[in-house]
Amino acid sequence: MSQVTSAPLPVRSPLPASLAGSSVLIIGGSSGIGLGAARLLHSLDVRVVIAGRDKARLDAAVADIRSGDGDAEVLGTVVDAADEDSIRAAVEFTGTLDHVLLTAGGYVGAGPIESIDPKDARTAYEQRVWAALAIARASVGRLPAGGSITLTSGLLVTRPRPATAGAIAVAGGVETLVGSLAVELAPRRLRVNGVRYGQFDTPLLRGVGGLPTDEAVAAAGANAPLGRFGTPEEAGAASVVLMANPYFNGQVITIDGGQSLV
Ligand SMILES: NC(=O)c1ccc[n+]([C@@H]2O[C@H](COP(=O)([O-])OP(=O)(O)OC[C@H]3O[C@@H](n4cnc5c(N)ncnc54)[C@H](OP(=O)(O)O)[C@@H]3O)[C@@H](O)[C@H]2O)c1
Repeated sequence: MSQVTSAPLPVRSPLPASLAGSSVLIIGGSSGIGLGAARLLHSLDVRVVIAGRDKARLDAAVADIRSGDGDAEVLGTVVDAADEDSIRAAVEFTGTLDHVLLTAGGYVGAGPIESIDPKDARTAYEQRVWAALAIARASVGRLPAGGSITLTSGLLVTRPRPATAGAIAVAGGVETLVGSLAVELAPRRLRVNGVRYGQFDTPLLRGVGGLPTDEAVAAAGANAPLGRFGTPEEAGAASVVLMANPYFNGQVITIDGGQSLV
Protein backbone atom coordinates (compact mmCIF):
# COMPACT_ATOMS: atom_id res chain seq x y z
CA MET A 1 0.00 0.00 0.00
CA SER A 2 1.27 3.46 -0.86
CA GLN A 3 2.26 6.03 1.71
CA VAL A 4 4.48 9.08 1.77
CA THR A 5 8.04 7.80 1.86
CA SER A 6 11.63 8.95 1.62
CA ALA A 7 12.51 5.75 -0.25
CA PRO A 8 13.04 6.32 -3.97
CA LEU A 9 10.88 4.81 -6.66
CA PRO A 10 11.85 1.13 -7.08
CA VAL A 11 13.88 0.40 -10.22
CA ARG A 12 12.53 -2.27 -12.55
CA SER A 13 12.81 -3.02 -16.24
CA PRO A 14 10.93 -0.39 -18.27
CA LEU A 15 9.95 -2.97 -20.89
CA PRO A 16 6.33 -4.18 -21.02
CA ALA A 17 7.44 -7.75 -20.20
CA SER A 18 8.22 -6.50 -16.67
CA LEU A 19 4.46 -6.20 -16.07
CA ALA A 20 4.10 -10.00 -15.96
CA GLY A 21 2.54 -11.09 -12.69
CA SER A 22 1.03 -7.69 -11.95
CA SER A 23 -2.67 -6.85 -11.71
CA VAL A 24 -4.42 -4.16 -13.77
CA LEU A 25 -7.95 -2.75 -13.50
CA ILE A 26 -9.30 -1.32 -16.77
CA ILE A 27 -12.46 0.74 -16.36
CA GLY A 28 -13.84 0.82 -19.90
CA GLY A 29 -12.16 -2.50 -20.72
CA SER A 30 -15.16 -4.16 -22.35
CA SER A 31 -14.71 -2.42 -25.71
CA GLY A 32 -12.40 -0.49 -27.98
CA ILE A 33 -9.16 0.94 -26.60
CA GLY A 34 -9.60 -0.56 -23.12
CA LEU A 35 -10.26 -3.99 -24.59
CA GLY A 36 -7.23 -3.61 -26.87
CA ALA A 37 -5.07 -2.86 -23.81
CA ALA A 38 -6.60 -5.81 -21.93
CA ARG A 39 -5.75 -8.24 -24.75
CA LEU A 40 -2.14 -7.04 -24.81
CA LEU A 41 -1.77 -7.20 -21.03
CA HIS A 42 -3.19 -10.73 -20.96
CA SER A 43 -0.59 -11.78 -23.53
CA LEU A 44 2.06 -10.37 -21.13
CA ASP A 45 0.79 -12.63 -18.31
CA VAL A 46 -0.82 -9.76 -16.46
CA ARG A 47 -3.92 -10.38 -14.34
CA VAL A 48 -6.65 -8.22 -15.87
CA VAL A 49 -9.93 -7.02 -14.38
CA ILE A 50 -12.13 -5.20 -16.88
CA ALA A 51 -15.11 -3.05 -15.94
CA GLY A 52 -18.01 -1.49 -17.82
CA ARG A 53 -21.74 -0.89 -17.39
CA ASP A 54 -23.21 -3.55 -19.68
CA LYS A 55 -22.91 -7.08 -18.21
CA ALA A 56 -23.40 -8.93 -21.50
CA ARG A 57 -20.75 -6.80 -23.22
CA LEU A 58 -18.44 -7.39 -20.27
CA ASP A 59 -18.92 -11.18 -20.32
CA ALA A 60 -18.24 -11.31 -24.07
CA ALA A 61 -15.07 -9.25 -23.62
CA VAL A 62 -13.83 -11.49 -20.77
CA ALA A 63 -14.32 -14.55 -23.02
CA ASP A 64 -12.55 -12.78 -25.88
CA ILE A 65 -9.51 -11.90 -23.70
CA ARG A 66 -9.33 -15.41 -22.21
CA SER A 67 -9.27 -16.88 -25.74
CA GLY A 68 -5.98 -15.09 -26.45
CA ASP A 69 -2.44 -16.10 -25.50
CA GLY A 70 -1.76 -15.98 -21.77
CA ASP A 71 -2.73 -17.88 -18.64
CA ALA A 72 -3.26 -15.10 -16.10
CA GLU A 73 -6.67 -14.52 -14.54
CA VAL A 74 -9.24 -12.40 -16.40
CA LEU A 75 -12.27 -11.08 -14.52
CA GLY A 76 -15.09 -8.66 -15.26
CA THR A 77 -17.10 -6.44 -12.95
CA VAL A 78 -19.99 -4.11 -13.66
CA VAL A 79 -19.23 -0.45 -12.90
CA ASP A 80 -20.57 3.01 -13.66
CA ALA A 81 -17.56 5.30 -13.86
CA ALA A 82 -19.73 8.30 -13.00
CA ASP A 83 -20.52 6.80 -9.58
CA GLU A 84 -17.75 6.84 -6.94
CA ASP A 85 -19.34 4.07 -4.86
CA SER A 86 -19.40 1.89 -7.96
CA ILE A 87 -15.73 2.64 -8.64
CA ARG A 88 -14.83 1.83 -5.04
CA ALA A 89 -16.66 -1.49 -5.39
CA ALA A 90 -14.71 -2.28 -8.58
CA VAL A 91 -11.41 -1.53 -6.84
CA GLU A 92 -12.48 -3.70 -3.90
CA PHE A 93 -13.46 -6.51 -6.30
CA THR A 94 -10.07 -6.28 -8.02
CA GLY A 95 -8.16 -6.89 -4.79
CA THR A 96 -4.45 -6.82 -5.55
CA LEU A 97 -3.91 -3.82 -7.79
CA ASP A 98 -0.74 -2.50 -9.45
CA HIS A 99 -2.05 -0.26 -12.24
CA VAL A 100 -5.34 1.34 -13.25
CA LEU A 101 -6.37 2.35 -16.76
CA LEU A 102 -9.45 4.53 -17.24
CA THR A 103 -10.87 4.51 -20.78
CA ALA A 104 -14.57 4.68 -19.86
CA GLY A 105 -16.65 7.32 -21.51
CA GLY A 106 -18.06 8.23 -24.84
CA TYR A 107 -18.63 11.32 -26.92
CA VAL A 108 -21.38 12.93 -24.87
CA GLY A 109 -22.32 16.63 -24.91
CA ALA A 110 -21.28 17.49 -28.47
CA GLY A 111 -23.23 19.85 -30.72
CA PRO A 112 -23.53 23.56 -31.51
CA ILE A 113 -23.09 25.60 -28.35
CA GLU A 114 -26.75 26.75 -28.13
CA SER A 115 -28.06 23.21 -28.37
CA ILE A 116 -25.82 21.45 -25.83
CA ASP A 117 -28.01 19.62 -23.34
CA PRO A 118 -26.78 20.59 -19.84
CA LYS A 119 -27.61 17.06 -18.70
CA ASP A 120 -25.25 15.63 -21.33
CA ALA A 121 -22.52 18.10 -20.39
CA ARG A 122 -22.88 17.03 -16.76
CA THR A 123 -22.76 13.36 -17.75
CA ALA A 124 -19.59 14.03 -19.75
CA TYR A 125 -18.02 15.63 -16.69
CA GLU A 126 -19.07 12.85 -14.35
CA GLN A 127 -17.89 9.96 -16.51
CA ARG A 128 -14.56 11.52 -17.50
CA VAL A 129 -13.33 14.09 -14.95
CA TRP A 130 -15.15 12.97 -11.83
CA ALA A 131 -14.37 9.35 -12.72
CA ALA A 132 -10.66 10.19 -12.90
CA LEU A 133 -10.76 11.84 -9.47
CA ALA A 134 -12.82 9.00 -8.05
CA ILE A 135 -10.49 6.29 -9.33
CA ALA A 136 -7.54 8.15 -7.84
CA ARG A 137 -9.35 8.49 -4.50
CA ALA A 138 -10.37 4.84 -4.51
CA SER A 139 -7.03 3.35 -5.55
CA VAL A 140 -4.27 5.40 -3.89
CA GLY A 141 -4.48 3.38 -0.71
CA ARG A 142 -4.01 0.12 -2.60
CA LEU A 143 -1.46 0.83 -5.29
CA PRO A 144 2.14 -0.14 -4.44
CA ALA A 145 5.17 2.10 -4.96
CA GLY A 146 5.71 2.27 -8.72
CA GLY A 147 2.01 1.73 -9.38
CA SER A 148 0.23 3.95 -11.85
CA ILE A 149 -3.02 5.48 -13.01
CA THR A 150 -3.43 6.13 -16.75
CA LEU A 151 -6.15 8.50 -17.94
CA THR A 152 -7.69 9.17 -21.35
CA SER A 153 -7.81 12.28 -23.51
CA GLY A 154 -8.33 13.00 -27.18
CA LEU A 155 -6.75 14.92 -30.02
CA LEU A 156 -9.66 17.37 -30.21
CA VAL A 157 -8.15 19.04 -27.12
CA THR A 158 -5.29 20.40 -29.22
CA ARG A 159 -6.97 20.21 -32.66
CA PRO A 160 -10.45 21.59 -31.88
CA ARG A 161 -13.36 21.37 -34.30
CA PRO A 162 -16.62 23.35 -34.24
CA ALA A 163 -19.46 21.91 -32.17
CA THR A 164 -17.22 19.82 -29.93
CA ALA A 165 -16.82 22.09 -26.87
CA GLY A 166 -19.39 20.40 -24.64
CA ALA A 167 -17.88 16.98 -25.24
CA ILE A 168 -14.18 17.74 -25.34
CA ALA A 169 -13.76 20.25 -22.50
CA VAL A 170 -13.77 17.29 -20.13
CA ALA A 171 -10.79 15.74 -21.92
CA GLY A 172 -8.92 19.00 -21.33
CA GLY A 173 -9.91 18.68 -17.68
CA VAL A 174 -8.47 15.17 -17.59
CA GLU A 175 -5.17 16.42 -19.03
CA THR A 176 -4.99 19.01 -16.24
CA LEU A 177 -5.65 16.30 -13.66
CA VAL A 178 -2.69 14.26 -14.93
CA GLY A 179 -0.23 16.92 -13.79
CA SER A 180 -1.96 17.86 -10.56
CA LEU A 181 -2.44 14.25 -9.44
CA ALA A 182 1.12 13.35 -10.46
CA VAL A 183 2.66 15.97 -8.17
CA GLU A 184 0.30 15.07 -5.33
CA LEU A 185 0.96 11.33 -5.54
CA ALA A 186 4.70 11.33 -6.33
CA PRO A 187 5.58 11.41 -2.59
CA ARG A 188 3.78 8.06 -2.38
CA ARG A 189 5.84 6.92 -5.40
CA LEU A 190 2.67 6.56 -7.48
CA ARG A 191 2.54 7.79 -11.06
CA VAL A 192 -0.22 9.41 -13.11
CA ASN A 193 -0.12 9.73 -16.90
CA GLY A 194 -2.53 10.17 -19.78
CA VAL A 195 -2.87 9.25 -23.43
CA ARG A 196 -4.23 11.68 -26.02
CA TYR A 197 -5.71 9.55 -28.78
CA GLY A 198 -6.22 10.38 -32.43
CA GLN A 199 -8.75 8.30 -34.37
CA PHE A 200 -8.91 4.57 -33.62
CA ASP A 201 -11.29 2.04 -35.12
CA THR A 202 -13.55 1.25 -32.18
CA PRO A 203 -17.31 0.91 -31.73
CA LEU A 204 -17.30 4.51 -30.44
CA LEU A 205 -15.60 5.90 -33.54
CA ARG A 206 -17.88 3.86 -35.81
CA GLY A 207 -20.96 5.17 -33.98
CA VAL A 208 -19.94 8.82 -33.77
CA GLY A 209 -18.53 8.86 -37.30
CA GLY A 210 -21.51 7.09 -38.89
CA LEU A 211 -19.22 4.33 -40.13
CA PRO A 212 -21.26 1.11 -40.01
CA THR A 213 -19.02 -1.15 -42.14
CA ASP A 214 -15.35 -2.07 -42.53
CA GLU A 215 -15.49 -0.49 -46.00
CA ALA A 216 -16.79 2.81 -44.60
CA VAL A 217 -14.05 2.79 -41.94
CA ALA A 218 -11.36 2.08 -44.55
CA ALA A 219 -12.65 4.86 -46.81
CA ALA A 220 -12.72 7.41 -43.98
CA GLY A 221 -9.32 6.28 -42.67
CA ALA A 222 -7.73 6.65 -46.11
CA ASN A 223 -7.51 10.40 -45.43
CA ALA A 224 -5.36 9.87 -42.32
CA PRO A 225 -1.59 10.50 -42.76
CA LEU A 226 -0.83 6.76 -42.63
CA GLY A 227 -3.80 5.81 -44.81
CA ARG A 228 -5.90 4.21 -42.05
CA PHE A 229 -7.21 4.73 -38.55
CA GLY A 230 -5.32 3.04 -35.69
CA THR A 231 -6.35 -0.30 -34.20
CA PRO A 232 -7.56 -0.68 -30.59
CA GLU A 233 -4.39 -2.66 -29.78
CA GLU A 234 -2.19 0.14 -31.15
CA ALA A 235 -4.07 2.57 -28.91
CA GLY A 236 -4.00 0.28 -25.88
CA ALA A 237 -0.27 -0.32 -26.29
CA ALA A 238 0.42 3.34 -25.49
CA SER A 239 -1.06 2.88 -22.02
CA VAL A 240 0.92 -0.35 -21.53
CA VAL A 241 4.15 1.59 -22.19
CA LEU A 242 3.17 4.18 -19.57
CA MET A 243 2.40 1.48 -16.99
CA ALA A 244 5.60 -0.44 -17.66
CA ASN A 245 8.18 2.35 -17.65
CA PRO A 246 8.59 3.49 -14.03
CA TYR A 247 9.98 6.87 -15.03
CA PHE A 248 6.93 8.08 -16.98
CA ASN A 249 5.12 10.46 -14.63
CA GLY A 250 2.80 13.41 -15.17
CA GLN A 251 2.89 13.05 -18.96
CA VAL A 252 0.19 13.09 -21.59
CA ILE A 253 1.54 11.27 -24.63
CA THR A 254 -0.10 11.56 -28.03
CA ILE A 255 -0.71 8.59 -30.32
CA ASP A 256 -2.39 9.65 -33.54
CA GLY A 257 -0.46 8.33 -36.55
CA GLY A 258 0.78 11.86 -37.24
CA GLN A 259 -2.70 13.36 -37.46
CA SER A 260 -1.78 16.30 -35.24
CA LEU A 261 0.80 17.40 -37.82
CA VAL A 262 -1.54 17.96 -40.74
N1 LIG B 1 -11.73 5.76 -30.53
C1 LIG B 1 -11.19 6.94 -30.75
O1 LIG B 1 -10.85 7.30 -31.88
C2 LIG B 1 -10.99 7.91 -29.59
C3 LIG B 1 -10.33 9.11 -29.85
C4 LIG B 1 -10.10 10.00 -28.81
C5 LIG B 1 -10.51 9.69 -27.53
N2 LIG B 1 -11.18 8.51 -27.30
C6 LIG B 1 -11.62 8.25 -25.93
O2 LIG B 1 -11.13 6.99 -25.51
C7 LIG B 1 -12.06 6.37 -24.61
C8 LIG B 1 -12.37 4.97 -25.10
O3 LIG B 1 -12.95 5.10 -26.38
P1 LIG B 1 -13.29 3.82 -27.28
O4 LIG B 1 -13.21 4.31 -28.68
O5 LIG B 1 -12.49 2.68 -26.85
O6 LIG B 1 -14.84 3.63 -26.90
P2 LIG B 1 -15.75 2.30 -26.82
O7 LIG B 1 -15.32 1.31 -27.80
O8 LIG B 1 -17.15 2.81 -26.85
O9 LIG B 1 -15.44 1.74 -25.35
C9 LIG B 1 -15.81 2.48 -24.22
C10 LIG B 1 -15.76 1.58 -23.02
O10 LIG B 1 -16.10 2.33 -21.86
C11 LIG B 1 -17.21 1.75 -21.20
N3 LIG B 1 -17.96 2.83 -20.62
C12 LIG B 1 -18.54 3.89 -21.23
N4 LIG B 1 -19.14 4.70 -20.34
C13 LIG B 1 -18.93 4.12 -19.12
C14 LIG B 1 -19.30 4.47 -17.81
N5 LIG B 1 -20.03 5.56 -17.52
N6 LIG B 1 -18.92 3.64 -16.80
C15 LIG B 1 -18.20 2.52 -17.05
N7 LIG B 1 -17.82 2.14 -18.28
C16 LIG B 1 -18.20 2.94 -19.30
C17 LIG B 1 -17.96 0.99 -22.29
O11 LIG B 1 -18.74 -0.08 -21.79
P3 LIG B 1 -20.32 0.17 -21.42
O12 LIG B 1 -20.90 1.03 -22.49
O13 LIG B 1 -20.89 -1.20 -21.34
O14 LIG B 1 -20.29 0.86 -20.10
C18 LIG B 1 -16.77 0.44 -23.06
O15 LIG B 1 -16.19 -0.67 -22.40
C19 LIG B 1 -13.29 7.29 -24.56
O16 LIG B 1 -13.19 8.11 -23.42
C20 LIG B 1 -13.14 8.13 -25.83
O17 LIG B 1 -13.75 9.40 -25.70
C21 LIG B 1 -11.40 7.61 -28.30
